[in-house]
Amino acid sequence: MKKLSLVVAAAAAGALMLAGCSSTTGGGSTTTTPPSEAPTTTATVDLAQCLTDAAATVTSGTSGNTSSSITPSTGFDAGAKIGVSLPQKTSQNWVEAEGMFNTGLTAAGYVPTVQFATNGVSDQQNQISAMIQNGVKVLVVGAVDGSQLGGQLDQAKQAGITVIAYDRLLMNTNSVDMYVAYDNYKVGQLQGQALLQGMLASQGAPPFNIELIAGSPDDANSKPFFEGAMSVIQPGIDCGALNVLSGQTTQTQAATQGWLAKNAQTRMDAILAANYTSAKLNGILSPNDTLARAALASLSSAGKSDDKTVITGQDSETASIPLIMQGTQYMTIYKNTQGLVDEIVKIIGLLQQGQPVPINDTTSYDNGTKVVPTDLLTPQVVTAANAAQVYANDATRLPCTQTPAPASCNG
Ligand code: BGC
Repeated sequence: MKKLSLVVAAAAAGALMLAGCSSTTGGGSTTTTPPSEAPTTTATVDLAQCLTDAAATVTSGTSGNTSSSITPSTGFDAGAKIGVSLPQKTSQNWVEAEGMFNTGLTAAGYVPTVQFATNGVSDQQNQISAMIQNGVKVLVVGAVDGSQLGGQLDQAKQAGITVIAYDRLLMNTNSVDMYVAYDNYKVGQLQGQALLQGMLASQGAPPFNIELIAGSPDDANSKPFFEGAMSVIQPGIDCGALNVLSGQTTQTQAATQGWLAKNAQTRMDAILAANYTSAKLNGILSPNDTLARAALASLSSAGKSDDKTVITGQDSETASIPLIMQGTQYMTIYKNTQGLVDEIVKIIGLLQQGQPVPINDTTSYDNGTKVVPTDLLTPQVVTAANAAQVYANDATRLPCTQTPAPASCNG
């Protein structure tokens, strides 16, 4: 994490720049006051520069830090059964994945079973056990709670099944072969960067008031999302350019159990009532679009829509794209689900033939038991400025960039 070392003005609050200060005279010339009077411990913090610098620490581009391969399978029947276990339908990406897996795996000649763990952890445990009994050769798991499946995954390993963690890492187990996901830490960094850039562009001069929302604590992704974002935001808090009036700055304090919109909205309602009846709320870090819309509902019911709060998101949900085009939600992240599913289908093809599977990260995703070989895809930032371009090949999302958006985009 980048650290800013600052010497805050020792003089009284409101002290102006004493050192090397320039002033324009009536005749238009510029004079410079010598710094002789300035105490050596005094420096003025340029808050906007502090935020600009923090935002600049994030680079766009490809994820992954190495190029390698693993060979977890010796091969299996071309028409094998494949199990795909998904969590609850807490965002549009999961819903879309169901059809994409069924279509992609069937077209590739496999017999897929794709299930949602609608009733939580025990539902998912039972579904995975049944898939193992049913003789699947590969298990693709998007976990409700990545640390609660150890027993089932050990059974899968004993049965010679290749286990792939899908989108969410499987924690505290040796029985996971690889992880395939968009780079979650990068998602958080991009959200943090966009939040700062969005506020600098539309909220006047800092300091800014912000609030933080984190994802569900049982989802392993919530940590890299939050930590990635805070790697950009924390320097702004440290230099005094950002204030969190609620004081809720830890992932635990900001958590949204179950990724449920109503939980985020209830928390935001309380924060607004306690801290923002007169203060302006300039920005909200939201980890995904569902929770961004919950935050917007909260702002609206508190009569704070005029704050034009800069709000982040993720998932490119069709219900959020029109809000982004109108400027109500500032940004989202595109993690093209079709791309992720296609990647998994391609990997299963290599496993079926017993061939090496390429990976591009061998260091970042430690699940508590081992560093899991990872295949990372690159997430993309979407704002009103680039939405039509980013969604150009996505027939579901592109129409939502039009004004007015078709009714199909409204969730
Ligand atoms: C996914 C996000 C999603 C969230 C809630 C996370 O694990 O990576 O894309 O918004 O779950 O469904």
